[in-house]
Amino acid sequence: MTAGARPWVVLKFGGTSVSRRNRWDTIGRLAAKRMADEDVRVLVVVSALSGVTNELQAISQGDAVDARIGALVDRHRAFCAELDLDPETVLGQRLGALQSLGTDPRAQSRPLDWQAEVLAQGELLSSTLGAAYLRTQGLDFGWCDARQWLDAVSLPNASDWAQRLAVNCRHESSAEFLERFGTQAAPMLLTQGFIARHGDGGTAILGRGGSDTSAAYFGALLKARRVEIWTDVPGMFTANPREVPDARLLTRLDYAEAQEIATTGAKVLHPRSIAPCRDAGVPMAILDTERFDLPGTRIDASATTVAGVKAISRRNGIVLVSMESIGMWQQVGFLADVFERFKRHGLSVDLIGSSETNVTVSLDPSENLVTTNVLEALSADLSQVCRVKVIAPCAAITLVGRGMRSLLHKLSDIWATFGRERVHLISQSSNDLNLTFVIDEADADGMLPQLHAELVRGGAMPVLDASVFGPSWREIAHGKLARPAPWWAGARPALLDAARTGTPRYVYDLATMRERARALRSVEAISHCFYAMKANPHPELLRALVQEGFGLECVSQAELDHVFAHVPSLLPQRVLFTPSFAPRREYEAAFARGVTVTIDSVEALQKWPEVFRGQRVWLRLDLGHGEGHHEKVRTGGVAAKFGLPVARFDAFLALARTLDLRITGLHAHLGSGIDNPRHWREVYAQLAGLADNVGTVETIDIGGGLPIPYTPDAQDFDLALWRDGLEEIKAAYPRYGLVVEPGRYLVAECGVLLLGVTQVIEKDGVRRVGADAGMNALMRPAMYEAWHGIHNLSRLDEANDTAFDVVGPICESGDVLGRNRLLPGATAEGDVLLVADAGAYGMAMANTYNLRALPQQDIIGP
Ligand code: LLP
Repeated sequence: MTAGARPWVVLKFGGTSVSRRNRWDTIGRLAAKRMADEDVRVLVVVSALSGVTNELQAISQGDAVDARIGALVDRHRAFCAELDLDPETVLGQRLGALQSLGTDPRAQSRPLDWQAEVLAQGELLSSTLGAAYLRTQGLDFGWCDARQWLDAVSLPNASDWAQRLAVNCRHESSAEFLERFGTQAAPMLLTQGFIARHGDGGTAILGRGGSDTSAAYFGALLKARRVEIWTDVPGMFTANPREVPDARLLTRLDYAEAQEIATTGAKVLHPRSIAPCRDAGVPMAILDTERFDLPGTRIDASATTVAGVKAISRRNGIVLVSMESIGMWQQVGFLADVFERFKRHGLSVDLIGSSETNVTVSLDPSENLVTTNVLEALSADLSQVCRVKVIAPCAAITLVGRGMRSLLHKLSDIWATFGRERVHLISQSSNDLNLTFVIDEADADGMLPQLHAELVRGGAMPVLDASVFGPSWREIAHGKLARPAPWWAGARPALLDAARTGTPRYVYDLATMRERARALRSVEAISHCFYAMKANPHPELLRALVQEGFGLECVSQAELDHVFAHVPSLLPQRVLFTPSFAPRREYEAAFARGVTVTIDSVEALQKWPEVFRGQRVWLRLDLGHGEGHHEKVRTGGVAAKFGLPVARFDAFLALARTLDLRITGLHAHLGSGIDNPRHWREVYAQLAGLADNVGTVETIDIGGGLPIPYTPDAQDFDLALWRDGLEEIKAAYPRYGLVVEPGRYLVAECGVLLLGVTQVIEKDGVRRVGADAGMNALMRPAMYEAWHGIHNLSRLDEANDTAFDVVGPICESGDVLGRNRLLPGATAEGDVLLVADAGAYGMAMANTYNLRALPQQDIIGP
């Protein structure tokens, strides 16, 4: 192909990518590689060296002009030396131009055209020295002045300032432009971002995000094959990775989604730069100069639409203006009156919520110069037409993704989480791409990781779709999680043998459970460990855990009977009884057995004083909030039936005194599957603070609730961090014995559920594998939308290449064990499916609905 006809690829590099010699080597290598691999011509667009534009900004404002120019001259000379270039030959003329701008007569009055020229010097310098350096490295690079190619357009209503220092450029491609640009001799060209030609022939500046936007303009004008934005992050993520380490790289977005994500949070790409590429149909890519091997983020029109939330972001410093119309219901022209005043004060409005008599809008600080003065003037002005209230500082938390309105049912946890905060405004964009909640800024702290996890868990963010969701930030930064193969992978023949004797069937591996038990027992801060046997009451598991030094926690008289029937040697002191709304007789039976009874209401003492008189008990408290993997397993806060509210603590103590009831323990279990390892430390701290007022407390029980990683990308629970927290807080309050009572952590991973495949059916494009048990054997997916790994044990060596829904035989639509699971395409009747991590709350919650028999159970291992 002749040079003129070859397509272009535009590569843009920012300040940090042009400030070191090795970075310029990278630029040269990448440009040459593109040219060699794709038979294209390459245009490289660069920013100024890092920090230089800020200096030029200060100079353009007349601040310490001489000193700053002197420092800039020295910095660029020194960099020439680092590049083995002669500063005089390469930059002499340009540095002279910079110096003469300082002595220019215009430097006194600082007109806009002079400011633009000052600001342009950074890119002119960096591109000039870069081109010279790349040529010394043997690369055939030409240099061109962007001002010859990018023309500023003058927009109606734009201020003089904007027409000079924040311009937009013409970007409709034409054969004439392509032809003219193509005649430049060198196959690779270097030019400047950020600068353009003003209508008067002078210099104009693109303003914020200028270099990205320059690259996009060139991409559009050249009808480039691609615009690549090279930065020092791997691309756009589902959330800010600094705040949410589990955020996933977004490998594929369409223009509208990328625009929305860039506008609401992600800093890697300026939102302005997307429209030119979108208009011209030029694909964009965000790539990482340090990590070439990552896919980066590709933005184009071809992405098949994947409905779902792609990102969650947070913007701080949002100001809300609430305007109550005075008395005039549906007053004609009210909105016109109001918005006219925003315009007058130069404020652009972002979100809007309205009712019959109130309009509330948000001002985004990135689009507005929101100062106290401006707000005061605006309020004064608005108060002529309405009652005004300014609410600030607020945070806007935005979910971005296609088809938000059809996702509402998957957002129930998100709504519940916001329901616990004071929400000032909710706004759903008319393009169905964005759902925003505005709350007080202080309340937003720490919310993003939780919200992100809820989006994944509820299925609103479809992270298992590998065409859109890449690796997590954690994985990129620390390498892929190397989780050891599960025990069942090595026990396949034994499991298949067991399955032949009948399915459904649970199989438990004692060695795995003992390993978990020992990990907990080794935590020195803990005085006693109890096993919450409701998770799995299999007698062999109970005996093994008692052997490992665990006591048992029971919640019903039947559990107590079961324990003493199967582990008769167990001392009553090693048994807790923590019932919920149990009948009176169960308390009496428990006291008669001599186990430790926990109560959680004043009413129990009022109604049954004789049951409690003179006894020793533990008291379960509700610390005001619940935690856990699903709304249904959170056991604190007003919605939960458990625990005595702290507000009634004193009343309880007073009544207890009259009954000579001694409170020897305080207890709180706020939920199940809590992934924050600091949670238990805080529970201990709060209970210890309360215990100090009682005087008789010996023990503090911080509950169970430790999670396990059910999904492939979930984190292992950081037991070391958990232990450190407990040790720290135990050292602060050493006088209480510390008790924990986990269930799931000990037994979930030791159990699998084996099922036989009954039928494989395709209906309306959905393939389903039917199993001989479903929600009757394992309730968790139906009840909590819980995720369990599902594997075809009969075909473990075949590729998992076909997506199936795995369903059970129960007459309920909710009888689905997993949706869209990859299994071997040949999966067929008679195969054995293995459902992983089913040891906790599996058999314990199984039932005989539809008169299907309960699963069998087997134990393997010592
Ligand atoms: N202590 C008390 C007072 C409890 O109510 C529970 C569990 C535990 C300890 C043990 O919690 P764990 O360490 O297992 O999270 N069926 C649900 C879990 C319900 C938990 C009920 N209480 C599930 O399958 O996720």
